[in-house]
Amino acid sequence: MKVLLLLGFVAVALAEVTRFDGEKVYRLRPKTDEHVAIIKELAGNIEVDFWSPEGAEQVVVSSEVDMHVDAAHTDIVSTLLQQSEMEHEVLVEDLQAYVEDQLDNQETKAYNYMKYNSWDKIEAWISSMASSNPSLISTQVIGTTFEGRAMTVMKIGKQSSSTKPAIFLDCGIHAREWISPAFCQWFVKEAVETYGSDAQMTSLLDQMDVIVLPVFNIDGYAYTWSNNRMWRKTRSRRSGSSCIGADPNRNFDAGWCTTGASSNPCSDTYCGSKPEFEVEVKAVGEYIRRNLFTIKAFLTVHFYFQVVVFPYFYFFQVGAPHREVVQVGEGAAGGLGSLFGPRYTRGPGGTTIFPAAGGFDDWAFDLGGKYFYTFEVGDTGRFGFLLPGSQIKPPWGGAMVAVKYISAHVVGNL
Ligand code: ARG
Ligand code: ZN
Repeated sequence: MKVLLLLGFVAVALAEVTRFDGEKVYRLRPKTDEHVAIIKELAGNIEVDFWSPEGAEQVVVSSEVDMHVDAAHTDIVSTLLQQSEMEHEVLVEDLQAYVEDQLDNQETKAYNYMKYNSWDKIEAWISSMASSNPSLISTQVIGTTFEGRAMTVMKIGKQSSSTKPAIFLDCGIHAREWISPAFCQWFVKEAVETYGSDAQMTSLLDQMDVIVLPVFNIDGYAYTWSNNRMWRKTRSRRSGSSCIGADPNRNFDAGWCTTGASSNPCSDTYCGSKPEFEVEVKAVGEYIRRNLFTIKAFLTVHFYFQVVVFPYFYFFQVGAPHREVVQVGEGAAGGLGSLFGPRYTRGPGGTTIFPAAGGFDDWAFDLGGKYFYTFEVGDTGRFGFLLPGSQIKPPWGGAMVAVKYISAHVVGNL
């Protein structure tokens, strides 16, 4: 009986898995206003999943646009692109093959830093890291996700009787950017393993705490493993719409929903019903408000542009907020560039990538956080979100250099 029940359950779960057979990812290079209009119109008429930038609102002349199109519409899109003479290439011929390749390389059993890990494994890893390194790691539950998962932060640093200044590092606010949580885990491992031998890490952890939120959007992350690899948002439900989730990085109270975000609940950049409506956003918001005096810097990791950006993102015209902030950002990006080629750019987000309001970065900056760096790490874009596990180390190695660079600056300027 039990076995039958289990089989039934597995069948239902399997039936819900989204497949991507014959779906393509195009890279477009719109050169004229007309090209931009064509892309926006297309997005209005068929369901387009924007990989980069995140939504139709953010498409501008001379940008590079990566978009995922379902199998039923690839013919129309190809014809349209040819007719409009827009420069383009097919980045991914068959998305399902990429999704399978990425998981094929996975070991299903043990936790492994060099692979992507499911939420269950990450959760177990959090407790085992904390219990085997009690002098360096403590954990605290800061909230519960919509589906009831505990949101735990790991505080890494030498114990001290007084409150130490801290750096907040979060990963995985967007569910499908798997490399981001992988980086947070790698950072914790490096911290534990090199404390006491690496001079920079030792002084960082002696003087400060690094508060790591390994996965911000846990429900979304779990859903990318169980049902839909391309999911980005949270998994919240709301009355009046059958569409699920909001973009947590559009749900903070910073120029909320004014630009680069959508008020349509079905959109991938949906800003939510009101600021901090998403319980995960509220939990992080409250934690930061309570600890604002100790948190001196924020680092947040995304995938897959290659940029180091800082506020503002919701004003288009405002330039660099502060000279020192800009210089540190340049130093960090310079370090990344020297290791990984010159593609890393940096600057205030609104002008460097695209304006998008409601972000964690702008919100924390407005609250009084001086340093907030948003990293977008990645390869050169061939695989998009589906970077094989075997290749995750170089991009996060770059982020490691940048995190250390910024931390050293913050420690030196307390
Ligand atoms: N790609 C990220 C996003 O769209 C960049 C985040 C930058 N911050 C921002 N406030 N837009 O969420
Ligand atoms: Zn992201």
